[in-house]
Amino acid sequence: NFGEKLEVLGKTYQTDHFTNITASILCKVGKNLHNIPNHPLQLLYQRMESYFYKTFLKRGNPIFSSYNRLSPVVTTEQNFDSLLVPHDHISRSPFDSYYLNSNYMLRAHTSAHQRDLVQSGLDAFIVVGDVYRRDAVDATHYPVFHQVEGVRLFSDFELFSQVSDPTSVKLFENGVKDEWKQEKHTLETSTLIGHNLKTTLEGLMRALFGEDLKMQWVNAYFPFTHPSWELEIFHQGEWIEMLGCGVMQQKLLDSAGASSKAGWAFGLGLERLAMKLYSIPDIRLFWSTDSGFLNQFQHKHFNENITYKAVSKYPQCANDISFWIPDSFTSNDFYDIVRSVGGDLVEQVKLIDEFKHPKTGRSSHCYRIVYRHMEKTLTQEEANEVHQLIEAAAASQLGVEIR
Ligand code: PHE
Repeated sequence: NFGEKLEVLGKTYQTDHFTNITASILCKVGKNLHNIPNHPLQLLYQRMESYFYKTFLKRGNPIFSSYNRLSPVVTTEQNFDSLLVPHDHISRSPFDSYYLNSNYMLRAHTSAHQRDLVQSGLDAFIVVGDVYRRDAVDATHYPVFHQVEGVRLFSDFELFSQVSDPTSVKLFENGVKDEWKQEKHTLETSTLIGHNLKTTLEGLMRALFGEDLKMQWVNAYFPFTHPSWELEIFHQGEWIEMLGCGVMQQKLLDSAGASSKAGWAFGLGLERLAMKLYSIPDIRLFWSTDSGFLNQFQHKHFNENITYKAVSKYPQCANDISFWIPDSFTSNDFYDIVRSVGGDLVEQVKLIDEFKHPKTGRSSHCYRIVYRHMEKTLTQEEANEVHQLIEAAAASQLGVEIR
């Protein structure tokens, strides 16, 4: 309802036509799983922190500093504009992010803090935090997950310290942009920063998964880096994308008052990594308060190898729902309703059939909802009850007509 007040983390926001945050999302804000002692996400972040603290030193002191308490409520300017995301970029759509109102949102990535932290004078930092995206429902997607951001800047002196004649190389030029570099960077700048970035992240992955890890770099695109890459690791027979990164856009550094430096940035998803590292089969488990889950991480040192042993998987129930959709319908709206009503009982929602009536022209969607309790057997009656509530909510909130 427009004009109503919304309270998030002790601050009040006026709702408007952009507001799309749901109660089930709001109750995750402030949980800060990454700061709960011995939670797997906290253990994993500690391990990363220790890699950065121990590997990169200057006169015996760590170069990187670490931030775990930045509020997930950011302005759209921080989340998008500060990162040079174009005004018509799809990621700004309210179908993809959670908005408190047209000015404030739950951060969709920890990159939202890059500009401000650089502006505050930092040259090297890592940030961990909860991020929010409207997305599919399955074992590896959840509307809240956690990211780690890293940034490192170099002055010309630092970047070219190993060059035999440092006066012969420059950080900047007025050149042209190509596949390898930005217009303001020399090829040397772009190559050395890219190389430092790659060795830093390969080292991080080896510190986590062991020295023999196979990795590959894939070209990528982000509005705030160029060139950009994704790192994939080979794990249990498949290539898995682990992170995005690149040479920071000089325009971003200029806007942050760091125009005499150049640098790199990366962002990685913690859950995906933790699921592989600790053999955690389902992303919902990170939110479990069940001792069967959390106990397996208690009294462990962050550098210990931990393999989660599933508390036997309980059987699932699958129910289908079919309805006629109005023109304004989007699947993400339905997924949000399923989340709000079904909570963590829902393991997966799949669009299994789409149909357009040849005469009336009306469209129909059929979704299969898979229900499974993480800690006990769910009866078909219990699943039916939730399923009916979802049908009712979809009909009243989305204007769909159940078939
Ligand atoms: N923010 C990007 C994402 O969420 C990842 C990224 C961070 C890419 C920093 C480049 C540099 O996908």
